[in-house]
Amino acid sequence: MTERIADIRTEAEQAIAAAGDTEALENVRIQYLGRKAELPNLLRNVAELPPEERAATGKAANEARKALEQAIEQRTRQLAAVELDQRLERDRVDVTLPGDPPAQIGRLHLITQTQRELEDVFIGLGFNVAEGPEVETVYYNFDALNFDSTHPSRLLSDTFYVQPTPDIFDPNALLLRVHTSPVQIRAMEAHPPPLYVVMPGRTYRPDNDATHTPQFHQLEGLAVDTDITLGDLQGTLLAFARAIFGEEREVRMRPHFFPFTEPSVEVDVSCFNCTGGLTADGLRCAICKGEGWIEILGAGMVDPNVFESVREHGYDPERVQGFAFGMGIERIAMLKHGVPDLRMFYDNDVRLLEQFG
Ligand code: PHE
Repeated sequence: MTERIADIRTEAEQAIAAAGDTEALENVRIQYLGRKAELPNLLRNVAELPPEERAATGKAANEARKALEQAIEQRTRQLAAVELDQRLERDRVDVTLPGDPPAQIGRLHLITQTQRELEDVFIGLGFNVAEGPEVETVYYNFDALNFDSTHPSRLLSDTFYVQPTPDIFDPNALLLRVHTSPVQIRAMEAHPPPLYVVMPGRTYRPDNDATHTPQFHQLEGLAVDTDITLGDLQGTLLAFARAIFGEEREVRMRPHFFPFTEPSVEVDVSCFNCTGGLTADGLRCAICKGEGWIEILGAGMVDPNVFESVREHGYDPERVQGFAFGMGIERIAMLKHGVPDLRMFYDNDVRLLEQFG
């Protein structure tokens, strides 16, 4: 009988050593020490053995059981430690990883970004921001701005009228505004002087090529006070040009004509891509076409006839002066970001739009 016990013990010890995880080991325990296993049964039935075998068998079986229990306990500890390591490895959290990337939520269109950048510059200079309607009357778009009744811009070929056969001499005829200048009149009607305001928004003209789209954006500026000079206009535009195109910029004015300003000027900014029209490698600059200067806007001193239109709102042309300017927002964005064709802004190809912001 003691031989059988020794065999069981050897067999069980091998099984314990071979158990690869705690579950397998538990099965080994049940197989050799469980209620139905041979060794415990032997122990329970020792009393039924012949008296001379009882002591030796009981002792051997007891020892075997204790040894196996110990071996199982030891192996359990080993396997549990390995399994804990594996679990820790599996569940490891790398706290240095970045969090879940935020979902792509898009961005502002470059024209919107540029408009806001311009607004910020002028807010910094003390201007307010105002908006006006895109569908305007002939009165606000032309008449109140001192356009002669024969001015060519009034023709159907130059302006989108809302009615199919408009009476273009009717001050109440509706059109899509050709510039943001009518907001000058609306702003002066709404606020007495002093007035410092910029007016961004959509504008419309029947043009379509690489530098013109039928719908585009302008930013209008108007300053009215009792002591405004052309010098104030130049200083304001210099600050704007430097904020947008770089601290090194200069501005210059060339005489021009607009119905609503007198004198009128076109304003150039010194090229930010070259010096005097030549790039660093001596080539003719492509941005300013070798001129050294880039035209950026129209401006001038508010024509007294424009103040006449709003005289009853506190604008006596004998008492107040003002300057006004108007720029194309697309043009500023194209120059600043080297966009070659204005129509690209409206193709809405994300590969272009994604590059900004
Ligand atoms: N309204 C003019 C244009 O669209 C620009 C401008 C605005 C010129 C204000 C002078 C003063 O070309």
